[in-house]
Amino acid sequence: SALLRLVGRVTLVAVIGTTGTFYYIAQKERNPGPQLPFDPSKKTLVVLGSGWGATSLLKRLDTDDYNTIVISPKNFFLFTPLLPSVAVGTLSPRSVLQPTRYITRHKTRQVSVVEAEATSVDPVNKTVTFTDTSPLRPLEPTNTIHYDYLVYAVGAETQTFGIPGVKENACFMKEIGDAEKMQRRFLDCVETAAFPGTSEEEKRRLLHMVVVGGGPTGIEVAGELHDFLEEDLKSWYPELHPYMRLTLVEALPGVLPTFSKELIAYTERTFKESRIDIQTATMVKGIKPTSVLLKPKDAAEQEVDCGLVVWAAGNTSRQVTKDLMAKLPEEQSNKRGILIDNHLRMLGAPSIFAIGDCTSTSYAPTAQVASQQGAYLARMFKLIARRDALEAQLESLMVSKKEGEDEFVKEEAIKKKMDKIKLKPFEYSHQGSLAYIGSDKAIAELPIFGREWSSGGVATFLFWRSAYLSTLFSFRNRMLVAGDWMRAKFFGR
Ligand code: FAD
Ligand code: NAI
Repeated sequence: SALLRLVGRVTLVAVIGTTGTFYYIAQKERNPGPQLPFDPSKKTLVVLGSGWGATSLLKRLDTDDYNTIVISPKNFFLFTPLLPSVAVGTLSPRSVLQPTRYITRHKTRQVSVVEAEATSVDPVNKTVTFTDTSPLRPLEPTNTIHYDYLVYAVGAETQTFGIPGVKENACFMKEIGDAEKMQRRFLDCVETAAFPGTSEEEKRRLLHMVVVGGGPTGIEVAGELHDFLEEDLKSWYPELHPYMRLTLVEALPGVLPTFSKELIAYTERTFKESRIDIQTATMVKGIKPTSVLLKPKDAAEQEVDCGLVVWAAGNTSRQVTKDLMAKLPEEQSNKRGILIDNHLRMLGAPSIFAIGDCTSTSYAPTAQVASQQGAYLARMFKLIARRDALEAQLESLMVSKKEGEDEFVKEEAIKKKMDKIKLKPFEYSHQGSLAYIGSDKAIAELPIFGREWSSGGVATFLFWRSAYLSTLFSFRNRMLVAGDWMRAKFFGR
């Protein structure tokens, strides 16, 4: 009994200690202290976007060095890898969102966050024009500000290739609103099919879900949809289960072109077992409100009835990016995105640093690349601030036009310090690729001791979950996501 009492006391102390620590961390995150105001002697750094690239930069940036202004149509960061889980209700939207002010309010110097859309950038006069697109303001007021340095991280938008009906009839999987729209549409299909008197044919149509694109987004969406159908809807709508069908359409001969052959084969096998029909070498030519037009490589076009189409066919540049590139036609000739040098400076506009999906580089457009670029820029801006401060000292020495031994020594000392500031080029370090494929299975390709290590299955799924849990940007998000996973396991979606 003495041992039991001891165990009881230790457990109590551990519970109180853990709760107290959690409470302390949460309170620190919730109640940031006062910040330094803007300093007119500092340079202005404007950041466009609040996605992976911009947020990674903001997390690490020493805002003491700059007057920083963030402009983005969304006042939050979206953790995109978990977006398909939001679409099926495994996670709630707020669990994968991080308000940008949650980050900026913890900075030494205040950061101005403006919820607006940048509509144009003038790389010659160094200005950004932005518009408040809120429906509360019918006139959409615009504003133009000057920047000394601009971080251009507006990402990309969903590519539709101008295929008829895509914008009108399909759900995308890029923004939080897309996931919410897909969930509403999907549940509407199910309830409509459950309406008394619905014909067999109509039930079959409504419960046929089509995912377009066999890249990682399409595969993850199909996997999550499958889980929702099998783990939840099968129990709640047993009479409809036989009508539920999932098809993934891919224009290329295979899915997941960036993964290894073994993992592609593993994914295809898992999909087959899960009764997800993969149609490769098949192009979607059009989307109607109740059907998709498919063109298999060696067969005639066919119209297939369906209730929901999710469009995950890749990225293209935003209009604001195309307009900016058009202002520098000689340097910016690549249609895929902004060309940058190895310090991430936009070719033709050295005060603009472009990162992430809006650029065209040898790297894949991934969160991993964008966040490493953001982190690199935070380090660069520290050095740039130091260099700029020394340059200013040198300039004031020149302006004073004093001559003499002392001035010469001072000048040489400053120049020496400036020489020591070396801006190293950006180097990407690939940490591997992960994707969820449904049925509590994931695939992973990880570089270990210089070799690619591939794995797939339930253990990889647990690794996938722990990897993303640790990658989430805040303690708050980690708690919410972990809580949602438990909620979904115990009570369903
Ligand atoms: P984004 O993160 O898209 O951010 C762009 C920001 O710019 C947004 O805040 C947007 O609101 C803002 N913006 C847009 N227009 C304007 C404007 N006019 N003015 C100012 N701001 C503007 N990558 C991985 O590495 N691993 C994954 O598991 C993974 N999973 C994914 C799952 C899904 C469903 C999706 C869609 C993508 C996934 N990606 C993944 C890719 C990854 O999300 C992108 O590569 C990454 O978001 C790129 O970061 P970014 O900062 O360039 O752009
Ligand atoms: P993607 O460009 O990788 O894949 C889109 C697919 O759609 C392509 O395979 C293309 O052939 C196909 N397609 C295009 N038009 C089509 C049509 N009309 N009919 C049928 N198929 C068509 O796009 P995705 O999956 O959105 O990924 C974008 C980026 O985000 C990639 O770099 C990817 O690596 C990254 N990402 C990474 C994830 C991960 O690591 N888990 C998850 C999601 C995205």
